Amino acid sequence: MTERIYLDNAATTALDPQVLDAMMPYLTTNYGNPSSIYSYGRESRLAVENARKTVAKILNAHPAEIFFTSGGTESSNTAITASIRDLGCKHIITSQIEHHATLHTVQFLQQTGAKVSYVRILPTGHIDMQHLEELLSESGEKTLVTLMHANNEIGNMIDLHETGNLCRKYNAIFHSDTVQTVGHFPFDLRNTPVDFITGAGHKFHGPKGVGILYINENVKIKPYVHGGSQERNMRAGTENLYGIVGFAKALQLATDNYETDSNYIKGLKLYMMEQLQKDLPGITFNGDPTGRSLYTVLSVNFPKTDKSEMILFNMDINNICVSGGSACSSGIEGSHVISAISSDPDAVTVRFSFSKYNTKDEIDTVIKKLKGMI
Ligand SMILES: Cc1ncc(COP(=O)(O)O)c(C=O)c1O
Repeated sequence: MTERIYLDNAATTALDPQVLDAMMPYLTTNYGNPSSIYSYGRESRLAVENARKTVAKILNAHPAEIFFTSGGTESSNTAITASIRDLGCKHIITSQIEHHATLHTVQFLQQTGAKVSYVRILPTGHIDMQHLEELLSESGEKTLVTLMHANNEIGNMIDLHETGNLCRKYNAIFHSDTVQTVGHFPFDLRNTPVDFITGAGHKFHGPKGVGILYINENVKIKPYVHGGSQERNMRAGTENLYGIVGFAKALQLATDNYETDSNYIKGLKLYMMEQLQKDLPGITFNGDPTGRSLYTVLSVNFPKTDKSEMILFNMDINNICVSGGSACSSGIEGSHVISAISSDPDAVTVRFSFSKYNTKDEIDTVIKKLKGMI
């Protein structure tokens, strides 16, 4: 069996060994429940609160604005549902290219009476900001705008400040799914006009099943998960102690190494683009890969042929891990994102997504294999 090449880092990433080291004591000896009042519990409580402080400092938020959750999905569900239930929003503006964590929550709320508008997407895959302003200015009701910071399938990014300022102008609540950008870009939340953002540890070499919801201190909502008094009565359930410790450690490492890692990964993406264009005629890229885009994601269209239709299958046989569109939908149905932006609905789309653990040699191998497959 050839060695595995993992180019699906937008789906999830490998745990950094340093993160595992930080988690280990809480997986073994330090297992006290953070809610227990004796010393063993207090030590766990301290670990959770230190993690919260670390996360808040890195994102330039107040620790009281950071809530630990089970990941991006729960965080977005909480923020969007609370905007309708607790903040008086009756109208939701979103886009057709959001992650299902957002889209399906919005669709559910639509069934319970919320009005929903979809902002136009430009051919580049970017949000039509003029249309967003039209929708906001015509909305006679309190509005929630939920637009993702970076799209997990094509990499396109919105300008958080521009979008947030527009929301402020029309007194709208602004939630952004930042699952693909927390741990990949610097944040300065105290100076960013946003009400809710989200994060998931497994997207930046942290553990799975742990995330954050940032709730701006000016926004007061009720819990989504009911039960005990954990997370200051906002999110019930015994804390994912080792996950929370791992989340903070992974975010710390990502922040410390941001310049080096982001430049390195961007180099890999550009190298892959060059090699694909050189060796595989007829391919195109989705979105705006050299513009406002994730440095980690490259979405490639291969012209439809009998051979290209088998790419994903052949990649798997060759032990190369990639996604067709989104990991969440690959193998089950076509991607709703690619369907919304594609000018060639027959093209075969492959998403390559990179991390600090990938190398140019791996890309050379993938290109060589691809040439053989097409
Ligand atoms: C943009 C985006 N939002 C939300 C999620 C969901 O995050 P999680 O799987 O941690 O719940 C993902 C994960 O695929 C994602 O890429």
